[in-house]
Amino acid sequence: MELSLTTPEAITTQAAILPDLLLAYRKHIGLYRGRTMRDDNESSINLEDAYALETPEDNRALYRSWASTYDADFAQRNKYVYPKTIATICAELVGTSSPLTILDIGCGTGIVGTCVSELITASIIDGVDISPEMLHVASTKLRVDTKPVYDQLFEADLTQPISFANVKYDVAISAGTFTHGHLGPDALINVMSVVRPGGHMVIGINKKHFGANGFAAALQKASDSQLISTPAFTEVQIYDEGSPHFGDLALITSLYVSPRG
Ligand SMILES: C[S@@+](CC[C@H](N)C(=O)[O-])C[C@H]1O[C@@H](n2cnc3c(N)ncnc32)[C@H](O)[C@@H]1O
Repeated sequence: MELSLTTPEAITTQAAILPDLLLAYRKHIGLYRGRTMRDDNESSINLEDAYALETPEDNRALYRSWASTYDADFAQRNKYVYPKTIATICAELVGTSSPLTILDIGCGTGIVGTCVSELITASIIDGVDISPEMLHVASTKLRVDTKPVYDQLFEADLTQPISFANVKYDVAISAGTFTHGHLGPDALINVMSVVRPGGHMVIGINKKHFGANGFAAALQKASDSQLISTPAFTEVQIYDEGSPHFGDLALITSLYVSPRG
């Protein structure tokens, strides 16, 4: 049968035969509704869109569209200071002089990795993300000495068992990825397997997402079963003063993976 995808009514009729089509259409409209109502001065994609995501496939679709404008339209416009803050906390924890291997979880366009490379200059940084378009932008980021920020970039869905890493890292770092519509506590436990025994994790988790989605219980369980140390939390601003989102908070969760491995 030939499908006419021109109007919602046509889709509704045809959805009697293809129910998934209507579901997909509604989701698409819901995801992008905010965009059509905003004025031209605003970013075409924004936090509302990102927080409304539900599945890894939603994330792939949104970041496919957002990759080329993310740095200027989202990070700069909104005074996104979280990557710099988490890199600073990480550097204070692990030191700045050793050639540590660091995995940037949900590295996106590479803002966190860039900040880390400026502070822990000898670090060897890999990144992992579900979006090939975001990873492509990350691959263009350079260190102060003009070498690439990232040594290796991996495309992977972190809600699935980890198969991309051949080595275990000294440090895992993340900003902006453990948030509404993105990764939850199960993925956090999942990524612990990429850190070597005794290695550190410095993971930013949106504070409201942390409270609503069982991160405390998951971390308590991991700590009780001696998989990790008792975590320490540092509350930080995600956006700087002057940003429309100033006041949105994250809990930077610092812990180390059990040396007993
Ligand atoms: C808000 S961006 C943050 C990017 C970067 N860390 C930053 O601070 O700018 C969230 C990132 O999480 C990635 N992501 C979402 N779901 C994922 C999944 N299931 N597995 C891996 N990465 C995912 C997205 O592709 C996106 O690049």
